[in-house]
Amino acid sequence: MSDEPGEKSRSHGRLGVRLSVKPRDLMADATIKGAFAVKVITLFPDAFPGTLGLSLTGKALDLGLWSLDALPLRNFGEGKHRNVDDTPAGGGAGMVIRPDVMERALAAAAGPGPVIFLTPRGKPFTQAMARRLSQGEGMTLICGRFEGLDQRVIDHYGIEEVSMGDFVLTGGEIPAQALIDATVRLLPRVLGNADSAIEESFSDGLLEHPQYTRPAVWQGREVPAVLSSGNHVAIAKWRAEQSHAVTAERRPDLWEAWQARATRPQKGPALRRAVRGLVAAIVPGDAVEAADQARALAWIDSGVELARVRKPATPGVQLVSYCLPMDGSRVLLGAHRGAGLWLPPGGHVEPAEHPTDTARRECREELRLLADFATEAPVFLTWTLTQGAPETRHVDVSLWYVLRGNARQVPDYDATEFSDMRWFDLAELPPEAEPNLGRFAAKLGR
Ligand SMILES: C[S@@+](CC[C@H](N)C(=O)[O-])C[C@H]1O[C@@H](n2cnc3c(N)ncnc32)[C@H](O)[C@@H]1O
Repeated sequence: MSDEPGEKSRSHGRLGVRLSVKPRDLMADATIKGAFAVKVITLFPDAFPGTLGLSLTGKALDLGLWSLDALPLRNFGEGKHRNVDDTPAGGGAGMVIRPDVMERALAAAAGPGPVIFLTPRGKPFTQAMARRLSQGEGMTLICGRFEGLDQRVIDHYGIEEVSMGDFVLTGGEIPAQALIDATVRLLPRVLGNADSAIEESFSDGLLEHPQYTRPAVWQGREVPAVLSSGNHVAIAKWRAEQSHAVTAERRPDLWEAWQARATRPQKGPALRRAVRGLVAAIVPGDAVEAADQARALAWIDSGVELARVRKPATPGVQLVSYCLPMDGSRVLLGAHRGAGLWLPPGGHVEPAEHPTDTARRECREELRLLADFATEAPVFLTWTLTQGAPETRHVDVSLWYVLRGNARQVPDYDATEFSDMRWFDLAELPPEAEPNLGRFAAKLGR
């Protein structure tokens, strides 16, 4: 066991490799600039990287896409024996990790991002949590042992308590590895195919459809015929049905939440009323937006088609959803090939599509990201005559949705639509930026 006094912290990753008898030892305090930094406070540093050193996460570690430091808690213990724990106040079985010992360990970790204590008392870990963590700069994880950690240190540092499920393990090392794996695989370039993170279980709030491979017949059981049909529409439909059925059966909680989203009006007067509701709920930031909102409401009430039916200009006024990632005062803009402007990602609402679903779809198509809405309603509205040849000109009525983004990462954007994509501070927009961005910034007080 490696809980002897005076252990070296174990660093892993690109800078963690050096020639020695034990190449993964000895590299304390190695941080890779720009890499997602994971620090783990544990009584068992030898447990790391464990399975994280294998396959895609291991390769990403070696490539320096993330870094891992395992800090031995024992080093921060009390007295000659470096005690880290003591008996529970009020009596009872077991031992509790001392707050002063953890204080010293946290000071040594000094990592970026949130501090998380793995505990069965925590909030259940979810894919959404993994996604949020992966968009930060790193995280510090505390692996408990014995009866857990003195509550005062959790309260004092605002430590997040996270559980891996309704069961009790001996220590926090396995939960920490699970959390790290789920998070690190969402970092850009870790998965070979970015689509796999979009398509798998939970990404759309549903469990995944069953998977099959060769041989076509095994033990008398056949691969479902539709999967060999080559008919991609039929395959997608079959997979969606399977995904719905398995989610409804196994996870009624997920199914209920998904249905609530899916029952957004999809067509006819109900959809028009929903669009009107979104537009009417926007609080105008200036006189221009108030006038544009009034025009948009009159347009909706006139009963004309709201969605683009035919490119480029039918009808002459068309509904658009922007999905604008923001991080503090920074916004992610794309150099739009057609418009010659730096535009927020987004696009035209399809007939029979709710604008919020358009924002979600455009986010997947243009940024290959799952939309993480700051608010599920648009915050800004613009009425803009497009540039270009007279026969292509039309009015875009744009609903601006704001997404939570991470200014340290530029997503794997759709290069057919954009020639470049960058983060800009709202106070320093380029001259070719979407002309309404200045008013958007003023409305947000940036
Ligand atoms: C034996 S458990 C302590 C259980 C604690 N007395 C309780 O009843 O909540 C020891 C350590 O294992 C880790 N652990 C055990 N089960 C876990 C789970 N389901 N999720 C996250 N961490 C867990 C925690 O770090 C915990 O402090």
